[in-house]
Amino acid sequence: MAPNGIVGRTALVGAMGGALALGYAMAEARAFTLRRVELPLLPPGADPLRVLHFSDLHATPTQRAKLEFIAGLADLKPDLVIDTGDNLAHLLAVPAVLDAFAGLLEFPGVFVHGSNDYFAPLLRNPLRYLLPDDGTRNTRHPLPWTELSKGFTNAGWLDLTNTRADLKLGGLRFAFAGVDDPHLEYDNLEAVAGPAPADADVRLGIVHAPYLRVLDQFAADGYDAIIAGHTHGGQVCVPFLGALTTNCDLDTGRAKGLHRHPADSRPGDPGSSWLHVSAGLGTNPYTRIRVACRPEATLLTLTARPA
Ligand SMILES: [Fe+2]
Repeated sequence: MAPNGIVGRTALVGAMGGALALGYAMAEARAFTLRRVELPLLPPGADPLRVLHFSDLHATPTQRAKLEFIAGLADLKPDLVIDTGDNLAHLLAVPAVLDAFAGLLEFPGVFVHGSNDYFAPLLRNPLRYLLPDDGTRNTRHPLPWTELSKGFTNAGWLDLTNTRADLKLGGLRFAFAGVDDPHLEYDNLEAVAGPAPADADVRLGIVHAPYLRVLDQFAADGYDAIIAGHTHGGQVCVPFLGALTTNCDLDTGRAKGLHRHPADSRPGDPGSSWLHVSAGLGTNPYTRIRVACRPEATLLTLTARPA
């Protein structure tokens, strides 16, 4: 009887530990936070500008806490909002997302879509996220992404899907290039190829999934910074070690936060850019867990470059 008792107690302790870990991971997926980053991009002497970066909401109409967190960020009165896609996770999510963004739509904005704006998520093995990409893509259940686009563009936000556009912000000319989601191979790099405007004050490349082919082109074309999402920061990370996956061909060392591209470049190197990757605010709604990677929006404060 004794060995069975030990086995039973060990199994019980293991099950309790698993339940505690799962509870923690579920709570962390709801611990929405605002990360603040400084990015020295503006011409010397320019006043700072504040850019609010959203990505990977994966919203459903009932995720009240997440939607209220987003709505509350309108109080920051940003100079620009950037949305790098994967806003939706439900057929009926568009009105809820547009409601959450209502205050933010008062400010200038730009956006691109991600695969999860186009297609509804499926119930799948959560461990699949950590496994190598097998190339299969979920395209079974289309979502009403055109309604989301309309809501954004009717408010004046620029749709940067495979196109370039300009905005005047704080007296400065911002030049943008954006591509559709490379995770679905919807990116049309030829449509936006060519040197970024040399007479713009700030040049930004916008993309959902930071695949290297896109980062390479934006950097080579002279964009000062590339803004992306998709990785969820690794979503389930090893404390103090970091991400195990980026769900694309970007290295895990740049799964979230501010880095350079190429990774070893320095500001001022020709053909190099800053790279900001958001860990995003959501997850697949069937696996709402995060570990050592809180859900986030980012306030990027653009400051003047050193003279
Ligand atoms: Fe996502």
